Amino acid sequence: MFAQRLDKIAPFRVMEVLARAGELEAAGHEVVHLEVGEPDFSTAAPIVEAGRVALADGKTKYTAATGIIPLREKIAAHYAELGVEVCPERIIITSGASGGLTLLSALLLNPGDEILITDPGYPCNEVFAQLVGGVPRPMIVTANNGFQPKVTDIRDAWTARTKGVLLASPANPTGTMLHSSDLQEIAGYVANQDGFFVLDEIYQGLVRGEVYRTGLSISQELFILNSFSKYFGMTGWRLGWIVVPEQAIEYVTRLAQNLFICPSTPAQYAALSAFDLDSMQIHEERAREFDARCERLYEGLLALGFQIPVRPNGAFYLYVDVSHTGLTSTEFCQRLLDEYFVAVTPGEDFGANENDRYVRFAYTTSMASIDLALDRLAQALQAW
Ligand SMILES: Cc1ncc(COP(=O)(O)O)c(C=O)c1O
Repeated sequence: MFAQRLDKIAPFRVMEVLARAGELEAAGHEVVHLEVGEPDFSTAAPIVEAGRVALADGKTKYTAATGIIPLREKIAAHYAELGVEVCPERIIITSGASGGLTLLSALLLNPGDEILITDPGYPCNEVFAQLVGGVPRPMIVTANNGFQPKVTDIRDAWTARTKGVLLASPANPTGTMLHSSDLQEIAGYVANQDGFFVLDEIYQGLVRGEVYRTGLSISQELFILNSFSKYFGMTGWRLGWIVVPEQAIEYVTRLAQNLFICPSTPAQYAALSAFDLDSMQIHEERAREFDARCERLYEGLLALGFQIPVRPNGAFYLYVDVSHTGLTSTEFCQRLLDEYFVAVTPGEDFGANENDRYVRFAYTTSMASIDLALDRLAQALQAW
């Protein structure tokens, strides 16, 4: 009765980890959660207040499919602050980046068209492509190149059926960014092939050091995916946006009208406050707190003998080589949870490439919990 595509959709291991962690908690154990890919902070108070006011004011009806104009203007102003001019019409508000991925897959892929993605990478990317009959083609990316592709990787993977590429910067699960010169070269190659280049910037703002703030500052040809989920701490509100070239606006609008009618109305009104000074101060403080946690976890894991081949400059993940423990990453995760009550995500969730070597640690928990996790890891390593 059910569609064949379901055979290709793998369950998230992290969900099993979460379920097991829940059982252990129910049995009275204190579990440290380093598996969750969402900020532990709740949404900043000014946004929550704006959402409350919106609901009280009856902002509960449909909006335009592409989102309310003031929010599109705020996002355009946000890009202007980053030194990039984007007209609000090119900004389409979506139901999270997931809604954006649905729209872009439907916009860009015919059945049988190939789309290049990375392995390791965000696992759902494959499913969005497959839903419209597209064929995801994972490219292996390794620590040698910071877990990001070079233009030569794109060229080698490109076939007559390839229509484009989807990359994330910073990426999940590695936290690494595509180097600006690589981004430029890849954009140039893809344009020459008449292909598309989707850049997932959902971790925009959660970055460290001298890095570009948006790929649009390097190429205006990009299709950009973004979200209020991560930097703006609004995962459960289900709100995001995409930036598309002008010639795509009409088609995306039609798709958005049919597939979603509109993104959540109260969430859109709440998000109008996300760029205000008081909210931005909170987001920046949280981003700096993530930096401090990254530092603590990174140094702590190295001191315990773990290898972290690339020190990431964004997101809230460390992709950690656990091979020195003699366990596969899945065994490592199971035993660490069952015996020491620390939850992390095995590489298996992010692809096939060296997945039994790597584990994703998400520092989406307090500094005290990170310290507790490091203590428990030290005990585990001594005992195993
Ligand atoms: C790289 C990447 N893209 C997209 C998403 C989807 O996010 P959302 O739909 O919450 O905006 C996630 C979520 O973790 C992600 O890590």
